[in-house]
Amino acid sequence: MTQTTTARRRIFSGIKPSGHLTLGNYLGAVRRWVQEDQDNADALFCVVDLHALTVEHDPARVRRLTRQAATLLLAAGLDPERCTLFVQSHVDEHARLSYLMECTATDGEMRRMIQYKEKAARERSSGTSVRLSLLTYPALMAADILAYGTHEVPVGDDQTQHVELARDLAQRFNQRYGPVFTVPRATNPRISARVMDLQDPTSKMGKSHAETAGIVYLLDEPEAVRKKIMRAVTDSGTEVRYDRTAQPGVANLLDVLASCTDGKPEVLAGEFTSYGALKKATAEAVLELLRPVRARHAELCADPSYVEGVLRTGAERARGLARPRVDAAYAAIGLLPPA
Ligand code: TRP
Repeated sequence: MTQTTTARRRIFSGIKPSGHLTLGNYLGAVRRWVQEDQDNADALFCVVDLHALTVEHDPARVRRLTRQAATLLLAAGLDPERCTLFVQSHVDEHARLSYLMECTATDGEMRRMIQYKEKAARERSSGTSVRLSLLTYPALMAADILAYGTHEVPVGDDQTQHVELARDLAQRFNQRYGPVFTVPRATNPRISARVMDLQDPTSKMGKSHAETAGIVYLLDEPEAVRKKIMRAVTDSGTEVRYDRTAQPGVANLLDVLASCTDGKPEVLAGEFTSYGALKKATAEAVLELLRPVRARHAELCADPSYVEGVLRTGAERARGLARPRVDAAYAAIGLLPPA
Protein backbone atom coordinates (compact mmCIF):
# COMPACT_ATOMS: atom_id res chain seq x y z
CA MET A 1 0.00 0.00 0.00
CA THR A 2 1.04 3.57 -0.62
CA GLN A 3 -0.36 4.63 2.74
CA THR A 4 3.07 4.89 4.32
CA THR A 5 4.09 7.75 2.07
CA THR A 6 1.10 9.92 2.94
CA ALA A 7 0.98 11.96 6.13
CA ARG A 8 -0.95 10.50 9.02
CA ARG A 9 -4.58 11.44 9.23
CA ARG A 10 -5.24 14.03 11.88
CA ILE A 11 -8.27 13.57 14.10
CA PHE A 12 -9.68 16.12 16.53
CA SER A 13 -12.52 15.71 18.95
CA GLY A 14 -13.74 17.54 22.00
CA ILE A 15 -15.74 16.89 25.11
CA LYS A 16 -17.49 19.64 27.00
CA PRO A 17 -17.09 19.75 30.80
CA SER A 18 -20.65 20.88 31.41
CA GLY A 19 -21.58 17.81 33.45
CA HIS A 20 -20.22 14.52 34.70
CA LEU A 21 -19.30 12.10 31.92
CA THR A 22 -21.95 9.51 31.21
CA LEU A 23 -22.20 6.00 29.91
CA GLY A 24 -23.51 7.67 26.74
CA ASN A 25 -20.27 9.64 26.33
CA TYR A 26 -18.26 6.52 26.98
CA LEU A 27 -20.04 4.10 24.65
CA GLY A 28 -20.87 6.79 22.09
CA ALA A 29 -17.47 8.43 21.75
CA VAL A 30 -14.68 7.86 24.23
CA ARG A 31 -14.39 4.13 23.72
CA ARG A 32 -13.77 4.61 20.04
CA TRP A 33 -11.14 7.26 20.72
CA VAL A 34 -9.39 4.72 22.95
CA GLN A 35 -9.77 1.61 20.83
CA GLU A 36 -9.36 3.02 17.35
CA ASP A 37 -8.49 6.65 16.91
CA GLN A 38 -5.40 6.97 19.08
CA ASP A 39 -3.77 4.04 17.29
CA ASN A 40 -4.78 4.76 13.73
CA ALA A 41 -4.26 8.48 13.47
CA ASP A 42 -2.56 11.50 14.92
CA ALA A 43 -5.36 12.19 17.36
CA LEU A 44 -5.99 15.23 19.52
CA PHE A 45 -8.57 15.13 22.28
CA CYS A 46 -9.60 18.32 23.95
CA VAL A 47 -11.60 19.13 27.06
CA VAL A 48 -13.41 22.12 25.60
CA ASP A 49 -13.88 24.24 28.70
CA LEU A 50 -14.56 27.49 26.82
CA HIS A 51 -17.65 25.83 25.39
CA ALA A 52 -18.94 25.19 28.91
CA LEU A 53 -19.34 28.95 29.42
CA THR A 54 -22.07 29.45 26.82
CA VAL A 55 -24.84 28.89 29.35
CA GLU A 56 -25.13 29.90 32.97
CA HIS A 57 -22.32 28.22 34.87
CA ASP A 58 -20.63 27.90 38.22
CA PRO A 59 -16.89 28.71 37.92
CA ALA A 60 -15.76 26.23 40.58
CA ARG A 61 -17.82 23.48 39.01
CA VAL A 62 -16.46 24.04 35.52
CA ARG A 63 -12.91 23.92 36.91
CA ARG A 64 -13.65 20.70 38.79
CA LEU A 65 -15.40 19.05 35.86
CA THR A 66 -12.55 19.98 33.52
CA ARG A 67 -10.01 18.22 35.72
CA GLN A 68 -12.38 15.31 36.21
CA ALA A 69 -13.04 14.89 32.48
CA ALA A 70 -9.32 14.82 31.72
CA THR A 71 -8.73 12.30 34.51
CA LEU A 72 -11.57 10.10 33.30
CA LEU A 73 -10.33 10.17 29.72
CA LEU A 74 -6.98 8.87 30.93
CA ALA A 75 -8.72 6.32 33.14
CA ALA A 76 -10.73 5.14 30.13
CA GLY A 77 -7.50 4.44 28.29
CA LEU A 78 -6.37 7.49 26.37
CA ASP A 79 -2.62 7.14 26.39
CA PRO A 80 -0.53 10.33 26.32
CA GLU A 81 2.17 8.37 24.47
CA ARG A 82 -0.23 7.74 21.61
CA CYS A 83 -2.44 10.83 21.51
CA THR A 84 -2.53 14.46 22.60
CA LEU A 85 -4.85 15.31 25.47
CA PHE A 86 -5.25 18.93 26.53
CA VAL A 87 -7.55 21.62 27.83
CA GLN A 88 -8.88 24.12 25.30
CA SER A 89 -8.30 27.28 27.35
CA HIS A 90 -4.63 26.35 27.80
CA VAL A 91 -4.06 26.98 24.12
CA ASP A 92 -4.75 30.62 23.14
CA GLU A 93 -4.95 29.72 19.45
CA HIS A 94 -8.58 28.56 19.82
CA ALA A 95 -9.87 31.95 20.93
CA ARG A 96 -7.54 33.74 18.51
CA LEU A 97 -8.82 31.83 15.52
CA SER A 98 -12.42 31.92 16.68
CA TYR A 99 -12.52 35.65 15.99
CA LEU A 100 -11.42 35.13 12.39
CA MET A 101 -14.14 32.50 12.04
CA GLU A 102 -16.67 35.07 13.25
CA CYS A 103 -15.41 37.32 10.48
CA THR A 104 -15.87 34.52 7.94
CA ALA A 105 -19.28 33.23 9.00
CA THR A 106 -22.55 35.09 8.61
CA ASP A 107 -25.10 35.95 11.20
CA GLY A 108 -27.72 33.93 9.30
CA GLU A 109 -25.56 30.82 9.27
CA MET A 110 -25.17 30.93 13.03
CA ARG A 111 -28.86 31.51 13.67
CA ARG A 112 -29.75 28.50 11.53
CA MET A 113 -27.92 26.04 13.77
CA ILE A 114 -30.43 23.60 15.21
CA GLN A 115 -28.67 23.34 18.56
CA TYR A 116 -28.68 27.12 18.94
CA LYS A 117 -32.36 27.37 18.10
CA GLU A 118 -33.29 24.64 20.56
CA LYS A 119 -31.10 25.81 23.42
CA ALA A 120 -31.90 29.48 22.96
CA ALA A 121 -35.63 28.73 22.93
CA ARG A 122 -35.29 26.66 26.10
CA GLU A 123 -33.40 29.42 27.90
CA ARG A 124 -35.80 32.14 26.80
CA SER A 125 -38.83 30.14 27.88
CA SER A 126 -37.32 29.66 31.33
CA GLY A 127 -36.69 33.40 31.59
CA THR A 128 -32.88 33.21 31.36
CA SER A 129 -31.04 35.54 29.04
CA VAL A 130 -29.18 33.93 26.17
CA ARG A 131 -25.42 34.48 26.12
CA LEU A 132 -23.99 35.77 22.86
CA SER A 133 -21.44 32.94 22.99
CA LEU A 134 -24.27 30.42 22.58
CA LEU A 135 -24.82 31.91 19.13
CA THR A 136 -21.12 32.14 18.21
CA TYR A 137 -20.27 28.69 19.63
CA PRO A 138 -19.93 27.08 16.17
CA ALA A 139 -17.27 29.66 15.22
CA LEU A 140 -15.20 28.56 18.21
CA MET A 141 -15.84 24.91 17.37
CA ALA A 142 -14.70 25.54 13.79
CA ALA A 143 -11.55 27.17 15.19
CA ASP A 144 -10.93 24.11 17.41
CA ILE A 145 -11.02 21.89 14.36
CA LEU A 146 -9.32 24.10 11.75
CA ALA A 147 -6.40 25.22 13.92
CA TYR A 148 -4.95 21.71 13.67
CA GLY A 149 -5.34 20.91 10.00
CA THR A 150 -7.84 18.25 11.07
CA HIS A 151 -9.01 15.71 8.49
CA GLU A 152 -11.61 13.88 10.53
CA VAL A 153 -13.87 14.80 13.41
CA PRO A 154 -15.49 11.82 15.13
CA VAL A 155 -18.73 13.13 16.62
CA GLY A 156 -22.27 12.08 17.31
CA ASP A 157 -24.88 13.07 14.75
CA ASP A 158 -26.07 16.01 16.85
CA GLN A 159 -22.73 17.68 16.00
CA THR A 160 -22.69 16.97 12.26
CA GLN A 161 -24.23 20.33 11.42
CA HIS A 162 -21.47 22.16 13.30
CA VAL A 163 -18.74 20.19 11.53
CA GLU A 164 -20.38 20.96 8.20
CA LEU A 165 -20.28 24.63 9.06
CA ALA A 166 -16.57 24.27 9.86
CA ARG A 167 -16.13 22.77 6.37
CA ASP A 168 -17.95 25.70 4.75
CA LEU A 169 -15.88 28.20 6.70
CA ALA A 170 -12.61 26.50 5.75
CA GLN A 171 -13.55 26.53 2.08
CA ARG A 172 -14.75 30.11 2.14
CA PHE A 173 -11.65 31.32 3.95
CA ASN A 174 -9.35 29.47 1.57
CA GLN A 175 -11.15 30.86 -1.45
CA ARG A 176 -11.03 34.43 -0.24
CA TYR A 177 -7.63 34.62 1.37
CA GLY A 178 -5.56 31.67 0.21
CA PRO A 179 -5.16 28.00 1.08
CA VAL A 180 -4.64 28.03 4.85
CA PHE A 181 -7.04 25.36 6.11
CA THR A 182 -7.58 21.65 5.57
CA VAL A 183 -11.25 20.95 4.89
CA PRO A 184 -12.42 18.53 7.61
CA ARG A 185 -15.22 16.01 7.61
CA ALA A 186 -17.35 14.46 10.32
CA THR A 187 -17.05 10.73 10.77
CA ASN A 188 -19.79 8.71 12.33
CA PRO A 189 -18.93 6.14 14.89
CA ARG A 190 -18.61 2.58 13.66
CA ILE A 191 -18.08 0.78 16.95
CA SER A 192 -20.11 3.06 19.11
CA ALA A 193 -23.68 3.14 20.24
CA ARG A 194 -26.18 5.89 20.63
CA VAL A 195 -27.26 5.47 24.22
CA MET A 196 -30.64 6.86 25.20
CA ASP A 197 -31.93 8.11 28.55
CA LEU A 198 -33.16 5.20 30.67
CA GLN A 199 -36.25 7.14 31.77
CA ASP A 200 -36.91 8.73 28.38
CA PRO A 201 -35.58 6.34 25.73
CA THR A 202 -36.43 8.65 22.86
CA SER A 203 -33.91 11.28 23.94
CA LYS A 204 -30.14 10.97 24.15
CA MET A 205 -28.44 10.18 27.47
CA GLY A 206 -26.91 13.63 27.84
CA LYS A 207 -24.75 14.96 30.61
CA SER A 208 -26.44 18.33 30.87
CA HIS A 209 -29.89 16.86 31.56
CA ALA A 210 -31.59 18.11 34.71
CA GLU A 211 -33.25 14.81 35.63
CA THR A 212 -30.63 12.19 36.46
CA ALA A 213 -32.54 8.95 37.14
CA GLY A 214 -32.16 7.94 33.51
CA ILE A 215 -28.47 8.76 33.25
CA VAL A 216 -25.61 6.49 34.25
CA TYR A 217 -22.52 8.49 35.17
CA LEU A 218 -19.12 6.86 34.87
CA LEU A 219 -18.41 7.69 38.50
CA ASP A 220 -21.76 6.50 39.90
CA GLU A 221 -21.42 3.99 42.71
CA PRO A 222 -22.10 0.43 41.48
CA GLU A 223 -25.28 0.26 43.57
CA ALA A 224 -26.60 3.42 41.91
CA VAL A 225 -25.80 2.06 38.44
CA ARG A 226 -27.66 -1.14 39.23
CA LYS A 227 -30.69 0.75 40.53
CA LYS A 228 -30.90 3.07 37.53
CA ILE A 229 -30.77 0.19 35.08
CA MET A 230 -33.22 -1.97 37.02
CA ARG A 231 -35.65 0.99 37.04
CA ALA A 232 -35.24 1.76 33.34
CA VAL A 233 -38.50 2.43 31.55
CA THR A 234 -39.49 -0.53 29.42
CA ASP A 235 -42.48 -0.83 27.18
CA SER A 236 -45.88 -2.31 27.68
CA GLY A 237 -45.76 -5.91 26.62
CA THR A 238 -43.63 -8.71 27.91
CA GLU A 239 -41.78 -9.95 24.87
CA VAL A 240 -38.11 -9.02 24.43
CA ARG A 241 -37.79 -7.77 20.85
CA TYR A 242 -35.31 -5.39 19.22
CA ASP A 243 -37.55 -2.72 17.78
CA ARG A 244 -36.40 0.88 18.18
CA THR A 245 -39.73 2.37 17.20
CA ALA A 246 -42.21 0.09 18.93
CA GLN A 247 -40.06 -0.74 21.97
CA PRO A 248 -37.52 2.05 22.45
CA GLY A 249 -36.86 1.25 26.12
CA VAL A 250 -36.11 -2.42 25.55
CA ALA A 251 -34.12 -1.64 22.39
CA ASN A 252 -31.97 0.82 24.34
CA LEU A 253 -31.15 -1.81 26.97
CA LEU A 254 -30.30 -4.29 24.22
CA ASP A 255 -28.06 -1.70 22.55
CA VAL A 256 -26.23 -1.01 25.79
CA LEU A 257 -25.81 -4.72 26.51
CA ALA A 258 -24.62 -5.38 22.96
CA SER A 259 -22.20 -2.50 23.11
CA CYS A 260 -20.73 -3.70 26.43
CA THR A 261 -20.37 -7.31 25.34
CA ASP A 262 -19.58 -6.82 21.63
CA GLY A 263 -22.77 -8.62 20.75
CA LYS A 264 -25.62 -7.93 18.38
CA PRO A 265 -28.85 -6.53 19.85
CA GLU A 266 -31.07 -8.57 17.51
CA VAL A 267 -29.36 -11.78 18.60
CA LEU A 268 -29.30 -10.89 22.29
CA ALA A 269 -33.05 -10.23 22.22
CA GLY A 270 -33.62 -13.94 21.68
CA GLU A 271 -31.74 -14.83 24.84
CA PHE A 272 -34.18 -13.19 27.24
CA THR A 273 -37.71 -14.10 28.15
CA SER A 274 -38.32 -11.28 30.61
CA TYR A 275 -37.52 -7.59 30.97
CA GLY A 276 -36.18 -8.25 34.47
CA ALA A 277 -33.56 -10.70 33.21
CA LEU A 278 -32.53 -8.32 30.44
CA LYS A 279 -32.10 -5.46 32.94
CA LYS A 280 -30.09 -7.64 35.29
CA ALA A 281 -27.74 -8.78 32.53
CA THR A 282 -27.37 -5.22 31.26
CA ALA A 283 -26.57 -3.86 34.72
CA GLU A 284 -23.90 -6.51 35.27
CA ALA A 285 -22.35 -5.88 31.86
CA VAL A 286 -22.19 -2.13 32.48
CA LEU A 287 -20.63 -2.64 35.92
CA GLU A 288 -18.06 -4.99 34.46
CA LEU A 289 -17.17 -2.43 31.80
CA LEU A 290 -16.90 0.47 34.24
CA ARG A 291 -15.02 -1.32 37.00
CA PRO A 292 -11.49 -0.88 35.59
CA VAL A 293 -12.24 2.72 34.56
CA ARG A 294 -13.37 3.58 38.10
CA ALA A 295 -10.35 1.84 39.62
CA ARG A 296 -7.91 3.65 37.36
CA HIS A 297 -9.70 6.95 38.01
CA ALA A 298 -9.21 6.50 41.76
CA GLU A 299 -5.50 5.82 41.20
CA LEU A 300 -5.11 8.91 39.04
CA CYS A 301 -6.93 11.08 41.58
CA ALA A 302 -4.29 10.09 44.10
CA ASP A 303 -1.64 11.45 41.73
CA PRO A 304 -2.88 14.83 40.49
CA SER A 305 0.58 15.95 39.41
CA TYR A 306 0.65 13.17 36.83
CA VAL A 307 -2.58 14.41 35.27
CA GLU A 308 -1.33 18.01 35.37
CA GLY A 309 1.87 16.92 33.65
CA VAL A 310 -0.07 15.18 30.89
CA LEU A 311 -2.18 18.28 30.31
CA ARG A 312 0.87 20.55 30.31
CA THR A 313 2.67 18.42 27.73
CA GLY A 314 -0.52 18.09 25.70
CA ALA A 315 -1.06 21.85 25.61
CA GLU A 316 2.56 22.44 24.58
CA ARG A 317 2.26 20.08 21.64
CA ALA A 318 -1.14 21.50 20.66
CA ARG A 319 0.22 25.05 20.77
CA GLY A 320 3.13 24.08 18.56
CA LEU A 321 0.76 22.57 16.00
CA ALA A 322 -1.80 25.35 16.00
CA ARG A 323 0.41 28.42 16.19
CA PRO A 324 1.85 28.46 12.64
CA ARG A 325 -1.53 27.84 11.02
CA VAL A 326 -3.30 30.50 13.05
CA ASP A 327 -0.45 32.94 12.33
CA ALA A 328 -0.82 32.16 8.63
CA ALA A 329 -4.56 32.84 8.85
CA TYR A 330 -3.92 36.19 10.58
CA ALA A 331 -1.51 37.18 7.87
CA ALA A 332 -3.75 35.97 5.03
CA ILE A 333 -6.79 37.87 6.24
CA GLY A 334 -4.87 41.13 6.21
CA LEU A 335 -3.51 41.63 9.70
CA LEU A 336 -0.02 43.08 9.88
CA PRO A 337 2.31 40.52 11.47
CA PRO A 338 4.14 41.84 14.53
CA ALA A 339 7.71 42.80 13.69
N1 TRP B 1 -19.74 20.77 20.38
C1 TRP B 1 -19.27 19.50 20.85
C2 TRP B 1 -20.32 18.87 21.77
O1 TRP B 1 -21.14 19.58 22.33
C3 TRP B 1 -17.97 19.61 21.60
C4 TRP B 1 -16.90 20.20 20.74
C5 TRP B 1 -16.38 21.44 20.82
C6 TRP B 1 -16.23 19.54 19.66
N2 TRP B 1 -15.42 21.62 19.90
C7 TRP B 1 -15.29 20.48 19.17
C8 TRP B 1 -16.34 18.26 19.10
C9 TRP B 1 -14.48 20.18 18.09
C10 TRP B 1 -15.51 17.97 18.02
C11 TRP B 1 -14.60 18.90 17.52
O2 TRP B 1 -20.29 17.68 21.95
